[in-house]
Amino acid sequence: MKNIVTITKKINNFNKKIKVSSDKSLSIRCVLLSSIAIGTSRLSNLLESEDVLNALKAIKKLGINYKKKKNFFEIEGFGLNGYNTKKKLTINAGNSATLARLLCGLLVKAENKIRLIGDKSLFKRDFSRLEFLKLFGVNIKNKNGLLPVEIQGSRFLRPAKIIEKLGSAQVKSCAIFCGLNTPGITFIKAKKSRNHTESLLRYLKYPIKVKSKGAYDYIKLKGLNQFKAFNYKVPGDISSAAFFIVLTLLSKNSKILIKKVNINKSRIGIIKILNKMNAKIKLKNKRLYKGEETADILVKSRNNLKSIYCPEKLNSSAIDEFLVIFLVASKARGISSFRNLEELNKKESPRLDRAVKFLKMIGIKVIRKKNNIQIYGNPDLDLKGKFHIKNYLKDHRIFMMSCIAALSFGGLWHINDKDSINTSFPSFLKIIKFLGGKYEIK
Ligand code: S3P
Repeated sequence: MKNIVTITKKINNFNKKIKVSSDKSLSIRCVLLSSIAIGTSRLSNLLESEDVLNALKAIKKLGINYKKKKNFFEIEGFGLNGYNTKKKLTINAGNSATLARLLCGLLVKAENKIRLIGDKSLFKRDFSRLEFLKLFGVNIKNKNGLLPVEIQGSRFLRPAKIIEKLGSAQVKSCAIFCGLNTPGITFIKAKKSRNHTESLLRYLKYPIKVKSKGAYDYIKLKGLNQFKAFNYKVPGDISSAAFFIVLTLLSKNSKILIKKVNINKSRIGIIKILNKMNAKIKLKNKRLYKGEETADILVKSRNNLKSIYCPEKLNSSAIDEFLVIFLVASKARGISSFRNLEELNKKESPRLDRAVKFLKMIGIKVIRKKNNIQIYGNPDLDLKGKFHIKNYLKDHRIFMMSCIAALSFGGLWHINDKDSINTSFPSFLKIIKFLGGKYEIK
């Protein structure tokens, strides 16, 4: 099977408008929320990647029908806890921790025991972080903190007060979803993280209140309220746009306009970080859409990028983008510093470990102390060597980051596991081609 991408040349200058894949976090949340709404929801521009298709398969197994129409998906929900769970049900979440963790929050009342599994990468992810569900009276088990997870719902759920200290939107959303099914008021004190679940529920007029104080959000929601089906058009994903923002910044005399991307404040850490590094990225045409905000992102090449002492409070809003942010730090003048990135090692692969290895491989000096790293930028970075990227648990973002490094820094690259892009950004290589980037698939 042809699954290795070879890149032998930097990309030539380009000046283009593009659209990136739809937002993955919003797509998964829309599928799950439609599955517990009353009536038929219509989702257009849904990301058709493996993670989202696994979400659709999961709700189907729970007795929820969906249909793909011309340019939208129809999902027929029966309200809260409207799932019809068969005995001995196993749900495979594939590569998606978001799906697995959020789904657990929706299964807290399921009558039969449900087993959750996933791919090789998901089997290495931490599921002990869902233990808090026990406080609601849910019977949940994992295998030494890992998959398979077994969840047995309860008819006697009780509200709980949860403190989420990791800054994980998946854990927070799981708690919120559990709160939907629980009588009374659920309180969640959560270290700030992406807030799409809260904003969608607010748009659906669900009784949920959020107060923001310092590094934390204080969430209060009233359980057992039904909400109606909805229509939603999913905007572009800033985590996918990130690859092209960085490619443009690092290439010569290039310009890109990335159309209609979600710019929710809890997601734009990459723009804030890169602008502190002198990137001058602009957000044009800002619009509000059903509790979220979208914009076109305008980026031009920059040859005077500077290092950053990255404020820790931006970590969560850039968590999926650090791999490409590190590429910018590699080319910036000065020593960049990033701190307390332990959550990066909890992703589809241990990304902090992999990133340090990667940067050293391309000749960048990196000093790591625990979960803090310093990257010694080299504005003259110009690679000549041979590089082979393999054994990274098919992490889609490592694959795409490696392609961006190859097209920006030069050298001869073989990058394994092209198919990993199907989890989040199936059109990634087509866009590279559209911009004039050359690659071969072997
Ligand atoms: C996501 C939350 C983040 C992020 C992931 C998507 C979400 O994970 O890395 O890609 O949609 O809630 P954590 O919640 O584990 O930080």
